[in-house]
Amino acid sequence: MATIISGKEVSAKVKEEVRAECDRLRQQGVTPGLAVIIVGDDPASRVYVNNKKKACAEVGFVSEEYALPAETPQEELLALVNTLNRRQDIHGILCQLPLPKHLDETAVIHAIDPKKDVDAFHPSNVGKIMIGDYDFLPCTPAGVMELIHAAGIEVSGKSCVVIGRSNIVGKPMAMLLLHENGTVTICHSKTRNLKEICLGADILVAAVGRPKFVKGDMVKEGAVVLDVGINRDENGKLCGDVDYAEVEPKASYITPVPGGVGPMTIAMLMKNTLSAAKMAAGLL
Ligand code: GUN
Repeated sequence: MATIISGKEVSAKVKEEVRAECDRLRQQGVTPGLAVIIVGDDPASRVYVNNKKKACAEVGFVSEEYALPAETPQEELLALVNTLNRRQDIHGILCQLPLPKHLDETAVIHAIDPKKDVDAFHPSNVGKIMIGDYDFLPCTPAGVMELIHAAGIEVSGKSCVVIGRSNIVGKPMAMLLLHENGTVTICHSKTRNLKEICLGADILVAAVGRPKFVKGDMVKEGAVVLDVGINRDENGKLCGDVDYAEVEPKASYITPVPGGVGPMTIAMLMKNTLSAAKMAAGLL
């Protein structure tokens, strides 16, 4: 039976630390401010944005939401980003992805001031992560690392397998595990012997975006399993990328869905926004 790593508990601790530091910062005349842009009415994005705003209120940040219609032209979105870049009371800017198809996500990511890029999606921040000298860590991979640390799991020397190679999760996840001296393999849709590679993992991170993709026969006895997925199963119930019922009996540690990696992403966003505010105030 696996020990459940609770993202609910660990994220509450992270947010409490951020809240305490935000109080101290406010006494120095700085209140962290996060601007969240959402374009269109994707229901999942709406839930994420609401949760981000709620977290801001919990830790004492000011948050501003910019809800733009789906048909917003590219120039208008870029103009908003530029205005927010210039605002001294806004320390973090986040544009919720995915954007409607007619918009150029890359151009929007490039337009955000890297010092306000609390998602760590800008190429300058991605590059800094590569060399291990960064201002911000991408929220979801950083949240996974926080869970690994909270459970007291040593990464050094372990075989780590990341399923998924997205810019948001898979690639930076692999880099963070490498920074802690894991031996990292990245798997993706073209990987030939996926099951065998996964069976070699001491630490397995699933970031595929497919419900219950990781089955019991893909996991080594005693592996640590971290599930980044947020999907709906055939009955419309929330589930991860890991078939929890099959994998839990084999794993030594596992994250649940919901209540695992999800809440960590938001807690790490709060941490990044706090860092951005401190940097802007010359306190970092
Ligand atoms: N869409 C899914 N995950 C994320 C995230 O971490 N940040 C942003 N901006 N959009 C997302």
